[in-house]
Amino acid sequence: MNPSFWKDNVNKATYWENFIAEFGKEFLKEYRLPEGDIVEYGSYKGNFINTLKNLYPLRKITGFDQDNLDNHENIIELDIRNLSSMREYDCSIAFAINDIPIWEHSGLSKMAAYNHAMTNLVDGGYYLESRKEIDKPEFISANKNLKFIKSTKNIVVFQRISET
Ligand SMILES: C[S@@+](CC[C@H](N)C(=O)[O-])C[C@H]1O[C@@H](n2cnc3c(N)ncnc32)[C@H](O)[C@@H]1O
Repeated sequence: MNPSFWKDNVNKATYWENFIAEFGKEFLKEYRLPEGDIVEYGSYKGNFINTLKNLYPLRKITGFDQDNLDNHENIIELDIRNLSSMREYDCSIAFAINDIPIWEHSGLSKMAAYNHAMTNLVDGGYYLESRKEIDKPEFISANKNLKFIKSTKNIVVFQRISET
């Protein structure tokens, strides 16, 4: 499946970019981020990144996407599946957003984003994932380093905790 299929429906894309940014804003009113960077996997045109920049002007905020359609200054254009072999993007992440399309369609890319987040997320940091309720992968809820925080129909958030 072509991973860019998501962009073919402009109405859906616009609805989603506003929905996730609004969810993020409300979430961040309630939960305080530890120190660290903000990373979004699957940034599209950077709408959510812009919201985050307004909320956290002093944090390092990086988006990854295979197409940086509007040449957004915070978005790095790369195929997320190559991230695991690149050390230059290792960092301390306070808030990781995995908005690669759903597991059912983009499993390898979604997994690559999850792996990068799990390697770099600090204790107390948050991991937000877009998903379809029906195809939620069990291994994430079984991860002993992740504590469930909240969910809506299409978004789930976990917090990183240390195992001991
Ligand atoms: C749901 S959209 C992201 C929407 C965005 N977070 C927002 O708030 O506007 C998913 C994005 O994932 C990107 N994507 C899908 N597979 C990818 C891959 N293998 N590497 C990098 N980006 C990928 C697509 O290009 C698309 O822009």
